[in-house]
Amino acid sequence: MKILNLNLKHKTVPIETENGLFQKAAQRIKELFGERKIMLVTDSNVGPVYAEKLFTQLKDLNIETGVYTVPAGENSKSHDLLLKLYDAFARFGLTRRDIVIAVGGGVTGDLAGYAASTWLRGTGLVHIPTSLIAMVDSSIGGKTAVNLPHGKNLVGSFYHPEIVLIDPLLLETLPDRYFFDGIAEVIKYGLISDNNLFEMLESLENRGNIIEHIEEIIFRCCDIKRNIVEQDETESGIRMILNFGHTFGHAIEKVFGYEKYTHGEAVSVGMVYISEISEKLGFCNSELPKRLRSVLSRYGLPVDFPKVDNNAVIDAVLIDKKSRTNDINLVLIEEPGKVFIKRFPKEQIRRMVHENRYD
Ligand code: GLY
Repeated sequence: MKILNLNLKHKTVPIETENGLFQKAAQRIKELFGERKIMLVTDSNVGPVYAEKLFTQLKDLNIETGVYTVPAGENSKSHDLLLKLYDAFARFGLTRRDIVIAVGGGVTGDLAGYAASTWLRGTGLVHIPTSLIAMVDSSIGGKTAVNLPHGKNLVGSFYHPEIVLIDPLLLETLPDRYFFDGIAEVIKYGLISDNNLFEMLESLENRGNIIEHIEEIIFRCCDIKRNIVEQDETESGIRMILNFGHTFGHAIEKVFGYEKYTHGEAVSVGMVYISEISEKLGFCNSELPKRLRSVLSRYGLPVDFPKVDNNAVIDAVLIDKKSRTNDINLVLIEEPGKVFIKRFPKEQIRRMVHENRYD
């Protein structure tokens, strides 16, 4: 087993990664939380495959366990679902000393995490991520959220789990599209902080090759995120580099109604776009965007900016929740493993997108 400790100001979060860990999860939960009640939160895809198993295993250990299943998909990150979840917590008699376990991908983790952070002003939380994107990103670092009609993740909290249990074998049931969705974030980690990881992804060819190294890949991504979050828990500085490719990625997701592109696919396009901006501004050479296009395309990820009304993109970028001032922070790249944050007046971003002007 590989163990990382995320050392925060007020608590330490162990992140345990091991092939086959899910089989031992109930035992591990009993060791950690004794007789405390457990509420599993899952979605309609993951529930029948994994949460039901965990439910049975916990029951077999005489742990009082409940389960709440939300419909799979981004629409479940809503206040409607949140109220239903609170209702389930109330009916189950979940107290502040009990534990909510999110078994699923990013949507489940964000929703269950927000519910746990607000229920009785905070109950215990555990993440058991089942998608690659949740294993390497959303289960670590304490971000929880629900969406509003105005935009994604507009209501949320920083709320860290007691532990994150990662079993890479759970990826076996993840459809290809969502596996490679996670690979976009893995490539992002290489680009922001680990040239060797980036080169490893360049040297592999397909899902089978990646799976041979997946424990190590997940561990390295989690370690990069651990290091960044320890320096900046609330994203007031360096943590922003985790948003490499995300400013334009989020805009693309939004313009297409969160339906055409998965998060990782939109980030893939956004990473290429921002590397091309970095080149045009003279921060990196022309080889880098080409390398990026090549590695992302190899894994079936989109790389071309879609033909879409520029005004819609600009509007989406400018109302992004992280950009309420006159300036916008963009994460630019010099070379794989080396990125930096630069503030741009909104007007300059408008010129870049509209007129291809980089002065
Ligand atoms: N997903 C980016 C972050 O956790 O900061």
